[in-house]
Amino acid sequence: MTQSVTSAAASGAASSASGATSPKRAFWSSRMAFILAATGSAVGLGNIWKFPYITGENGGGAFVLVYLLCIAIVGIPIMMAEVLIGRRGGRSPVSSMGILCQRDKLHARWRWLAGIGVLASFLILSFYSVIGGWALSYVGTAGTGQLSGQSSESIGAIFSGLLADPGTLLIWHTLFMALTMLVVARGLRGGLERAVTILMPALFVLLLLLVGYAMTTGYFGQAVTFLFQPDFSKLSTEGILVALGHAFFTLSLGMGVMMAYGSYLPKGVSIARTSILVSVMDTGVALLAGLAIFPLVFANGLEPGAGPGLIFQTLPLAFAQMPFGSLFGTLFFVLLVFAAWTSAISLLEPLVEWLEERRGLNRMISTLGAGIAAWLLGIGSILSLNEWSGFAPLGMFAAFEGKTIFDLLDFLTANILLPLCGLLVAVFVGWFMARQALENELSMGGRSFALWYGVLRYVTPIAVAIVFIYNLL
Ligand code: PFF
Repeated sequence: MTQSVTSAAASGAASSASGATSPKRAFWSSRMAFILAATGSAVGLGNIWKFPYITGENGGGAFVLVYLLCIAIVGIPIMMAEVLIGRRGGRSPVSSMGILCQRDKLHARWRWLAGIGVLASFLILSFYSVIGGWALSYVGTAGTGQLSGQSSESIGAIFSGLLADPGTLLIWHTLFMALTMLVVARGLRGGLERAVTILMPALFVLLLLLVGYAMTTGYFGQAVTFLFQPDFSKLSTEGILVALGHAFFTLSLGMGVMMAYGSYLPKGVSIARTSILVSVMDTGVALLAGLAIFPLVFANGLEPGAGPGLIFQTLPLAFAQMPFGSLFGTLFFVLLVFAAWTSAISLLEPLVEWLEERRGLNRMISTLGAGIAAWLLGIGSILSLNEWSGFAPLGMFAAFEGKTIFDLLDFLTANILLPLCGLLVAVFVGWFMARQALENELSMGGRSFALWYGVLRYVTPIAVAIVFIYNLL
């Protein structure tokens, strides 16, 4: 969390601005640093790997529309609420919640809301690292020229070969987790901030380039229709739940990450404007990824609903065919790894902070403990791609029928824990915190405040609750 904070932490500016918060706490070196770190957390595999494949699985346009609605009426209001809790509490998520409860004389049990988030981030990290490992392995595949000139079939075979090989998957998963633990244990601070400043825009440019290439395939129009022309007959109710869950996942909500980052945001910076900007950038990257991938899917007669392997079977095709494809391919996967890395760091950090605070462990031990535990759980996800692909641990319940460990972790976090935590955040901030405190913290004008407050109190919780209950039944 602290990677981008100024070293002038104790300069007094921090303590005077923070009011009741700990005088030792640092702040982001600038509003931009917060935006970059929050975007670094938000933009990750969720945008480039997950968004295209779940869009494909859920029929396209109608799903995208529901997803955009979820970002607007659920995601942005909750992101503002989380950043607000963090800035007002000024500590780690669980402690910030504790401070707010004390100040507003609310039941301390509300702290558990942040506890659910910590659990979710741990579970997500376990499989996130496995997919991060796929991206790492593709840096090697593209870098050694294995993609150039390949056909769609052989590219498909490279991917299925990877999934079928638990040993190789384990190596890449281990490497990815080790990289994540390294940063969290040592805190690359300035280095990471500088890297995000360069690599995020680079990723954006490269995605634009890929969209440019996709335009030359002759199937761009079909992809645009697929992504933006809603056909509600293709959208199931589970699809709506997936869209909602993904809005949380992609914006890093429901996990306390934005609370933790918000705790470093200087007073006076607009929470609303900042949250909207981060959300728009995040959504932009996802849509660009869709526009880069689907023309290739249609041009090569691939199946949009191919599942988690979609980007690994489509983008390499572009790299196989375009001039300097190996170079662009390598660069792309390096950037994807980087995007995944900054997100994984933000997934590990809450648990490490929690272990330090609650259990009094030092940072190194906390990082090792949390990282190794997530790594172990990740092995379950690896095996569910091959040896255990027929093993559905909760298969006796209809809702989990046929779901492997990997599917189950994904479903449980994105579709249950994150929306649940988000719902609690909306209820806590919308119904329990003092309105005056919210107005002060947001320093927002009458109408915009009323809009946010109304949406957060009524629309957000009702929308989340309906989708949730409907799916449970
Ligand atoms: N938002 C990240 C992505 O879209 O890949 C994933 C993620 C990171 C989720 C951090 C949650 C989180 F706390």
